[in-house]
Amino acid sequence: MTAAWIIVNGKETPISPAAPHTTALDFLRERGLTGAKEGCAEGECGACSVLVARPGVNKPTDWVAVNACLVPAAALDGQEVVTSEGLATVGEPGTPRTLHPVQEEMAVRGGSQCGYCTPGFICSMAAEYYRPGRCAHADSANSADSANSADSAEGADATDRTDAEHGPNGFDLHALSGNLCRCTGYRPIRDAAFAVGTPTDEDLLAQRREQSPPPPVATEYTRDDRAFLRPSTLEEVLRLLRDRPDAMVVAGSTDWGVEVNIRSRRADCVVAIDRLPELRALRVESDHIEIGAALTLTEIERRLDGRVPLLGELFPQFASRLIRNSATLGGNLGTGSPIGDSPPALLALEASVVLADADGEREVPLADYFTGYRQSVRRPGELIRAVRFPLPQAPVVGFHKIAKRRFDDISSVAVAFALDIEDGLVRKARVGLGGVAATPIRSLATEAALEGEPWVAETVEAAARVLRAEGTPMNDHRASAAYRSAMLGQSLLKLYAQTTEGVSS
Ligand code: FES
Ligand code: FES
Repeated sequence: MTAAWIIVNGKETPISPAAPHTTALDFLRERGLTGAKEGCAEGECGACSVLVARPGVNKPTDWVAVNACLVPAAALDGQEVVTSEGLATVGEPGTPRTLHPVQEEMAVRGGSQCGYCTPGFICSMAAEYYRPGRCAHADSANSADSANSADSAEGADATDRTDAEHGPNGFDLHALSGNLCRCTGYRPIRDAAFAVGTPTDEDLLAQRREQSPPPPVATEYTRDDRAFLRPSTLEEVLRLLRDRPDAMVVAGSTDWGVEVNIRSRRADCVVAIDRLPELRALRVESDHIEIGAALTLTEIERRLDGRVPLLGELFPQFASRLIRNSATLGGNLGTGSPIGDSPPALLALEASVVLADADGEREVPLADYFTGYRQSVRRPGELIRAVRFPLPQAPVVGFHKIAKRRFDDISSVAVAFALDIEDGLVRKARVGLGGVAATPIRSLATEAALEGEPWVAETVEAAARVLRAEGTPMNDHRASAAYRSAMLGQSLLKLYAQTTEGVSS
């Protein structure tokens, strides 16, 4: 067993004697850091949010908020974690702590009542406070109109940089989309978020962003015949999976963490692949884009920066920022859920999956990848290394997720469109569906009903009738089969309205 420790609020903290499946939340709380709470234990409330130093997109390090209830403590071996306790500055013995600016704003604006959710909100808010893009926005807003105060927040609607979800300080409220509060009401929390300024030059966590995050360490953490392993190369992982095809492969643990917490599942051997450099590249070539299977959705979103509009529509609707900070495309495809959010979009993009094992690689079109409910052509010992899709992209795209809530929810159905419309004619149509069959599917009949036809109301209405009959939607607690079918058709009508009448999504 290699030595394993986490730097928690600046202090090296041994992981032992935690079990390999012990969550970071339990690990922290057992060590007296009880700010982070357990609300749901399945990634839906954010009460457990903490900050982790991760490779940055615009700076060497980003402070990223994650659900500590989902990630095993062993997965943070060698990493730096900051909790809500660590955000406040400790003064001389006997003197009070100085609140962090986001804590200060939450306190003075009444953003906390029972306080159960507050440390989680604070950590999500702090991650957004330190986001480099926000700081740049806030700086330019400040220089334009000195807007960096409560007054400016309250007058926010007057600025053209601001909408209901973005403050004049550049604060993106989606940073809090994974945090729930049962008693305060969200307005004071939003007031606090829109009132925070920019970090000062003396701010140690802001300074920390200029240095690289801790490099990944090889982890071999075993207790009671169970192991959490983090090999340092893809080759080692593939050898390990060949010898132990029963091993549970995890990246962000957003799915596995739920299994551990809610269904009490335990694995004898968990293999972490989220820090493998071979799985973390994003390449834009002349004829295709390749996205490493272990990049988080937040990393992909920020690195692509709108270059793939269909994914740009998908990402804000995928769970919450907290989940997107850990979840990966490889994980979303690997679990094979028929209601995963990314497969419909990737099907419409004509993506393929690059599978690797100890003998080499193969590329499988995503349309041929799923074989049944949570089943795929991936063989024991095989790993998803990357996802590829061809360029150029179709110019008309749409991703419509129908769910009970706008954010942080599971879809009833999801529809993704990628249409090549030229001179009013649909040259090519790709339509991906989720939630209407045992697997994500392509809507081949709808594609055929559109291709070669003029992009006019009659074509769309006829194709919508075809689309309504696709798949075998079921009745369950989320939606009836009839509703699901109806939404499929509506989705195409909506896309048509968006392209012809400027209807917004
Ligand atoms: Fe609810 Fe972690 S406890 S997201
Ligand atoms: Fe009570 Fe948010 S302050 S749950």
